[in-house]
Amino acid sequence: MQQQAPEFTAQIARDTAALYDKVAHVVPQIEWPLHAPYIHAINALKREKNAVVLAHNYMTPEIFHCIADFAGDSLQLAREAAKTDAKVIVQAGVHFMAETSKVLSPDKTVLIPDPDAGCSLASSITGADVRLLKQKYPGLPVVTYVNTSAEVKAESDVCCTSSNAAAVVEDIAREWGVDTVVMIPDEYLAKNVAKQTAVKIVAWKGHCEVHERFTPADIRAYREGNPGLVVLAHPECPPEVMAEADFAGSTSGMISYVGEHRPRRVVLITECSMSDNVAVEYPDVEFVRPCNLCPHMKRITLPKILQSLQNMTVEVTVDPAIASRARAAVERMLAVGAQKVRRAAA
Ligand code: 13P
Ligand code: SF4
Repeated sequence: MQQQAPEFTAQIARDTAALYDKVAHVVPQIEWPLHAPYIHAINALKREKNAVVLAHNYMTPEIFHCIADFAGDSLQLAREAAKTDAKVIVQAGVHFMAETSKVLSPDKTVLIPDPDAGCSLASSITGADVRLLKQKYPGLPVVTYVNTSAEVKAESDVCCTSSNAAAVVEDIAREWGVDTVVMIPDEYLAKNVAKQTAVKIVAWKGHCEVHERFTPADIRAYREGNPGLVVLAHPECPPEVMAEADFAGSTSGMISYVGEHRPRRVVLITECSMSDNVAVEYPDVEFVRPCNLCPHMKRITLPKILQSLQNMTVEVTVDPAIASRARAAVERMLAVGAQKVRRAAA
């Protein structure tokens, strides 16, 4: 049934004025009366239901800046899901992220506002494919990008994200005493990581449908049209694209780069909404904006998030036997991160 849009009242305008001030740079004023009633209702329901919204960096700015309790890259969201005290997690991201939250927080209710928010990487491989790979490469550890189903994680030895992939590959190769690992499912991430380590990598042919569309010619055209441009690229891009970039990093790695270096003019070679979200924090930086949208991330909207909290739908479940094996692979990844932090602090 179609949801009745909540009304933009004078009270809601007053209550949300500070939030609008925050995003005024990227959300046109004419749109605010559409967003504000949802933002107001969602923030009230979160308190009532002891819920948190975990939002990926690719969410639109009204979600990212106005209702998220925590926003970040895949690794940061996984860490947050593992430690939150809330009873309910609303995942403002895609299905594999919600599954990861459920795997790490089996006693919590995890909701995804649209269960069809998939991912071309996650759908490129199944648990049966991983079992066949293990038969083909016996004795090699399987390193699995978090952009996969719980079933695929369950067949894996360790998970990784774009921000820790090289460290995870080296750690597991050392532990197993091998010089080669199987890394699935992102072929480009695997090739990009292989350039940072002496460990050899057997890759799978999955691709991100957003990042695979960037070409080296795109990067050269951005540079020609925008003198002094700094190019930051996500490692899901093809290696030829990465070769043209000034910096490679996860979505949060790119945000940190902008914060630390304050380039005068920058382009983020990644999903479209990232630039809007970062521009809110750094209005002095000029963003050149490629617009490659992730159709899956864009399924998550304020009306769907409100409906999700009102009806407590759609609840994400993972078979406990699969969840416990997937959890071991994700926790092993989180432990590699913790070790690195401890080493840096020592
Ligand atoms: P990170 O946020 O971990 O860099 O991942 C990007 C992505 O494509 C998630 O779907
Ligand atoms: Fe998957 Fe790419 Fe969309 Fe991320 S941006 S969810 S990797 S399709």
